[in-house]
Order: sequence, then structure tokens, then C-alpha cells
Amino acid sequence: MQTHTTLAALRAQLRQWRRDGSSVGFVPTMGNLHAGHHELVKLARRHADRVVASIFVNPTQFGPNEDYARYPRTPDSDIHGLAETGCDALFLPTVEQMYPFGTMGCVQMHVPGITDILCGAHRPGHFNGVAQVVARLFNMVQPDLAVFGRKDYQQLQVIRYMTREMSFPVEIIPAPTLREADGLAMSSRNQYLDADQRQTAVRIHQTLQFMRDAARQGLPITGFEDEASSRLEAAGFTVDYVQVRHGDLTRAKSPNEPGLVALIAARLGKTRLIDNLEFDAA
Ligand code: PAJ
Repeated sequence: MQTHTTLAALRAQLRQWRRDGSSVGFVPTMGNLHAGHHELVKLARRHADRVVASIFVNPTQFGPNEDYARYPRTPDSDIHGLAETGCDALFLPTVEQMYPFGTMGCVQMHVPGITDILCGAHRPGHFNGVAQVVARLFNMVQPDLAVFGRKDYQQLQVIRYMTREMSFPVEIIPAPTLREADGLAMSSRNQYLDADQRQTAVRIHQTLQFMRDAARQGLPITGFEDEASSRLEAAGFTVDYVQVRHGDLTRAKSPNEPGLVALIAARLGKTRLIDNLEFDAA
């Protein structure tokens, strides 16, 4: 695997592959990679001749009181894991390369509507920062396809919207959520949890399953949303939201509608966890 820290070196590599007629798949990440990230690389590999991953902890998607400074950075084990997984190239841009005029002087993105609800309501500016950096990465890598996890369901929808709206010639491929044996969705933030919190964290997935079962029984949505929220609070979470929506994130009306997804964001201590469950897929 080639590791590139400059855009010039990455582009030289990409030109070579393009000359050979290879298609390019792309997996953007913020590093501290786990098996879920590796599955994204494997999925990209199934759809493209060459796979590029990036690691960039993007300052513009973190709020002022969020974990940008303490976000886990583990480049050595990330590089090792990506090489083992069959990634062809890793791009490690610096903040200066990503934002040559600084994060105050950069061109802003604003994705309307979809960024104001759910996580967007609790993390103002977060998804605009995500859209901003993914647009830049798409311009830098110019991939044929890019893989994003369903774990970050709203992020996936924001990227789909932006890609379509901006006519980026990139196919967006969603990847299933990889879970720990007990059902907890894998996340770089799980390591913030102490042993008790780690045991409690599985309740999020269990609560999503409870909501799916309640919907299958035809129970009213607001009733089981409230019940799910109370259960999480009783287990020690501070709940940001518990909601059932359509796949495009519009509000669900009836539990019998096709394509519903339940979404939860809840905090254990300082750690914010998110997860979701698509009722038809499960
Ligand atoms: P990061 O949190 O590192 O996630 C990178 C990719 O891995 C995202 O597409 C995310 O949905 C996916 N992912 C994370 N945990 C997963 C799991 N358990 N199963 C499957 N996929 C999983 O998301 C970001 O970084 C950033 O916002 C980014 C898109 C890179 C922009 O900065």
C-alpha cells in the first residue's frame, strides 16, 4: 500500500491507475480504524479495481465543545490494518492542505433541510462540515465510487443528497453496520466508555429492536418512541433523540409503512453514541 501525505503524490498515483484503465473506489475515514472500516474497504474492493482510503480528522465537523482535540489518532495501526485489508493507497492530508486559506477562510457548504434534524439539531454545523470535507475529498481523489456506512445513516443521506445535487460523478455505495458480538455498533468512540458504560451501551441496539418489534405489532409510533426513550433514560442515558422515520428521513406516519428506520442518539457520560435499525432489512 502506498501512503501519500501530499495531493501531488496522490494524483501522480491516480494518473498512473487511470492510464491503466483501472476504476477507483474511495473510503473516507477519520482513522482509529476498526473492523467496520475494514469492511468498507473490502466492499470498495468488490466494486473497483483500486481502493483509496483517507484518514483526516476534519476540524470543521466538530463543534467547539466536542472531541476534536481528543479524537483518537492511531496512524501506525491504521496503516497496518489497511495494508492487511488490501487497500491500495492511503491519503493522509494535513489541515493546511485541506484548508489552504484556513478553516475561517474556506468555502462553506450548506446542505438545507436534512442537516437541521436529528443529529443536525444537536450538532449545529456538523453535517455542513462533513459535506464540505467530503466534497473536497471527492475533488482530490476523483473516485468512480465511494463507500459510506449505514451506521451514520443521516450522514449517508446528506452525502447522497450533496452528490446528486452537485452532480459529482461518484456512485455512493452504502455498507451494512458491523456490530460487536453483543450488538453494539462498532465505533471509534466506544473506547471512551468505561466497563459499566460499555455494558449499558448495548441497550441502544436492544431498544432499536424493541421499536422494530413494536412497529411490526402495529403499535402507534409516538407511543413506542416515548417508551424507548424512557427505557434508555432509566438505563442511565441522556437521550438526544429517539425517532422513527422514512428511509429519506421524512417523518413516519404509520408503523405499517414500508422502508422505516429507527434512529437513536444518546449519551453515556460524555460519550455520544448513535445507531439505527432499518425495519425491512432486519
Ligand atoms: P468515521 O467515523 O471514521 O467513519 C468512516 C466511515 O466508516 C463512515 O462511512 C462510517 O459510516 C463508517 N463506519 C463507522 N462505523 C461503522 C460500522 N460499525 N459499520 C460500518 N461502517 C461504519 O464518518 C466519518 O468518519 C466522517 O464523518 C467522514 C465521512 C470521513 C468525513 O469526515
